[in-house]
Amino acid sequence: MKPSEADQIRTSILIGSKDASDMKRYFQRDGTVAKWWNPEGMKPHKNPLFPLLPLYRKEKKDVLEICASTDGPILEVGCGDGRISSLLAKHRNDPLVGVDISREMLRKYVDKEGISALQLIHCDAENLPFKEDSFDGVICIQTLVHLPNAEMVIDESARILREGGKLILDINTPNSQRVLTILSLARSISGRLESILKLIRLQLPITILRNKLGPAILRNTRVVTLILERHGFKVRLHATYGGATTGFALFVATNTKQSPTENTLYP
Ligand SMILES: C[S@@+](CC[C@H](N)C(=O)[O-])C[C@H]1O[C@@H](n2cnc3c(N)ncnc32)[C@H](O)[C@@H]1O
Repeated sequence: MKPSEADQIRTSILIGSKDASDMKRYFQRDGTVAKWWNPEGMKPHKNPLFPLLPLYRKEKKDVLEICASTDGPILEVGCGDGRISSLLAKHRNDPLVGVDISREMLRKYVDKEGISALQLIHCDAENLPFKEDSFDGVICIQTLVHLPNAEMVIDESARILREGGKLILDINTPNSQRVLTILSLARSISGRLESILKLIRLQLPITILRNKLGPAILRNTRVVTLILERHGFKVRLHATYGGATTGFALFVATNTKQSPTENTLYP
């Protein structure tokens, strides 16, 4: 029997945290996300996330190219330290806004040089402080995976985007889902063993890795496409990254301003 869409949503995997509500608290605390999210500045041989570095770079290039053909105000949701939108800010005259739940990341963003026409706001992606039809582009990269309610972010994006505006967002592919499922299992085992390991002053490599990643919810690519479509977006899969081993997928979803259908995918 084919699993229902709601069942697929329920199979989203939460790693690194027992409870989805922990996630926001995690990102709000100083000394958390900034510790592990600096893909451009990774030390290759010290960082277990290194194999993903070329993928992050390629994705960033693609996002910047898409934005180059987007006139009007752009918002980056979960902008972090500005890895992507700070580059846009250097070349655009149209307004650019970045929002993030982590003050620490916004402080890092502000410290970047040569940024103009930029506004940074500390807020939650699930409740954006903007009026309807305010933007022509919304970027949400490497962030949906950390948001407890993907549908709320997509709903908010549909509300604040003008008709024809683009939501540029990514999602982990089923490949990375498999890799991260194994990682998640290993994490939970190492978590249980941790107190014993502490006693004998041993650390499993996986325990070190656990501290390198924030909590993440992995979602099915097809389900996210369906959610986008239900919120009136015309969806195009722009690119996938990582081939057979691991990776993510980049969508460009165009807002048609059709009201969301009643049949929500969230149980
Ligand atoms: C992996 S980083 C990606 C940052 C940036 N998009 C990039 O690609 O470099 C994820 C970012 O999402 C932010 N974030 C997590 N939950 C959020 C929420 N509920 N609202 C806004 N930002 C959030 C984190 O603070 C972090 O800066």
